[in-house]
Amino acid sequence: MTSTLEVKNEVCTRRGAATDGALMEEFLVGLSPRSFYLRFLTGFGPGALPRLVKHLLVPEEVGGSLLAFRDGTVVGHGMWAPAPDLSGASGDARPAAEIGIVVADAYQGQGIGSRLVDDLVGWVACRGLTEVQAVVSAENQVVRRMITGRVSDVRYTRDGPLITATAAAHSLL
Ligand SMILES: CC(C)(COP(=O)(O)OP(=O)(O)OC[C@H]1O[C@@H](n2cnc3c(N)ncnc32)[C@H](O)[C@@H]1OP(=O)(O)O)[C@@H](O)C(=O)NCCC(=O)NCCS
Repeated sequence: MTSTLEVKNEVCTRRGAATDGALMEEFLVGLSPRSFYLRFLTGFGPGALPRLVKHLLVPEEVGGSLLAFRDGTVVGHGMWAPAPDLSGASGDARPAAEIGIVVADAYQGQGIGSRLVDDLVGWVACRGLTEVQAVVSAENQVVRRMITGRVSDVRYTRDGPLITATAAAHSLL
């Protein structure tokens, strides 16, 4: 008897690459204006899209990107990039990374964002970066709940409508 392994509705993640430009552009164009704004905190004209796509796939050539796929379609993206070192209580330098994630509107609330965060935090911790930061809109209740649900020791700084949340990478794993 032969059996066929059918993989449906499974989400898998892998690193993004410069060759994923067309898939990434399709994903970005399909985002609602609200999701796009909550992720990038600004708008981009259509002419800026290719540059944005390149940056999101190969962030500054020193960070990294992840794509989440379902049935061959990109349904989520996450990236990390080095941030300026932070200083600990005793003045020691603590290397930091900034992360950003976005999930296609129709797939939100299904655990994909949490999985991207897990994979990104694991990645930056492996690189020896001990602090993780996210810059989010103060009105972004979903992300704020995600952060407080994961870790109690979060430091917040506010700059107008934006909040930077910082936590130790190990506390997020
Ligand atoms: C933030 C975002 C990436 C979360 O991804 P997601 O796949 O929807 O998140 P998950 O399904 O893993 O859920 C994470 C938590 O948020 C909660 N959540 C998700 N969507 C929610 C919604 N619409 N309303 C209320 N809670 C929600 C989940 O219940 C879950 O809580 P739990 O950890 O206590 O179970 C996604 O909502 C998104 O793309 N938002 C727009 C872009 C953005 O805000 N990016 C973050 C800035 S860096």
